[in-house]
Amino acid sequence: MNPPFDVAAIKSDFPIFEEKMRGGKRLVFLDSGATSQKPWAVINAERDFYTKHNAAVHRGSYYLAEQASAAYEGARQSVADFLSVDSDEVIFTKSATEGLNLLATSFERSAGQLGIRAGDEIVVSELEHHANLLPWQQLAKRTGAVLKWFSMNLDGSLDLTNIDEVITEKTKVVAITHQSNVLGSVPDLPPIIAAAHAVGARFVLDACQSIPHMPVDVRAMGVDFLTFSGHKAAGPTGIGVVWGRAELLNQMEPYLYGGSMIESVTMTDSTWAAIPRRFEAGVPNMAQAVGLEAALKYLSNIGLPNIHSWEMTLTEYALRGLQEIEGVRVLGPQSMQARGGVISFVVDGLHPHDVGQVMDQYGVAVRTGHHCAWPLIRKLGVVGTTRASFYLYNDLSDVDVLLESVIGARDYFRKR
Ligand code: ALA
Repeated sequence: MNPPFDVAAIKSDFPIFEEKMRGGKRLVFLDSGATSQKPWAVINAERDFYTKHNAAVHRGSYYLAEQASAAYEGARQSVADFLSVDSDEVIFTKSATEGLNLLATSFERSAGQLGIRAGDEIVVSELEHHANLLPWQQLAKRTGAVLKWFSMNLDGSLDLTNIDEVITEKTKVVAITHQSNVLGSVPDLPPIIAAAHAVGARFVLDACQSIPHMPVDVRAMGVDFLTFSGHKAAGPTGIGVVWGRAELLNQMEPYLYGGSMIESVTMTDSTWAAIPRRFEAGVPNMAQAVGLEAALKYLSNIGLPNIHSWEMTLTEYALRGLQEIEGVRVLGPQSMQARGGVISFVVDGLHPHDVGQVMDQYGVAVRTGHHCAWPLIRKLGVVGTTRASFYLYNDLSDVDVLLESVIGARDYFRKR
């Protein structure tokens, strides 16, 4: 049960843990699946950008503008290094949600094989959070393409028994999460990626819940595109990443139009800059990109394998503890097989919001409700869940308070 790094030292890197919660309680932050806390390294990187280097990138010919551009492009290179990809394949967006909208819209606008037309098929799964469902659902509605999906089994895995019916010769794109944000389940992606590629479809990996927590080798996985957000990876809000294979991005149409993404403009027409600039219209989120660079370096210094291994220890301890509480039902995977550091549960007879409110009295921050994954919640047949999600700054005592607070919630309402 020993952590592979000094969790107390890590915790002290995150100033928010000095704050007192309701009733003077210490913060037990178990909502990193929604957004993570930020270390000083990230806060200082953003501060340094604003205090020392701030200017609009790619525009000015003066000293500060050069520095700002170098910092921004340096951040892109760091993201590329983190993913082991080429820097021109890294597009900064404001969020993973924007990244997924970018891909859906770019496919729609692109000519040839990459374009999505009436009758084409788009494949997602019932595990998806809204960010990886709605852009594809609405793309299908706009174009007359057909949206198909893999069903979820109640253990949080995907039903692949009908894989040949879901992925067909008409499939153009398959977009699936690397890990469920609600249940923590990790779908069996290799057969899906292989089936997609066998029919010439592109595979988009929603890595929001994996990139911050585990090593992800995009080249080895064979995915074509990947998106993630900075704010779940100890980085700032307002920054997300799309990675795509250069030969595909080069054929794709832009998502947003405006400054910096052009090669040439007349009053009636325009041509586009090379990738990645073609996909980055307007003055980008520069300080946030630099903050993300600091976050990824911070995580890399600790080591993603170490972070993952510690989260698995916390999850196993919490899973066992929750399963032993009478009146509590863990949803999704019941073992440590094919799962990450997220656990959803319900307390018999209680609305998750009530559970969360009592847990808050213990200083415990968890997410409650449908977790922006309404179809998945409907499939589970519940109104919502209470979700605990772990990160590198959590320790075993956090799990103890979690368990104590869940018992407290159950007993508080039982007395009434
Ligand atoms: N997708 C985020 C979550 O799971 C917001 O909470």
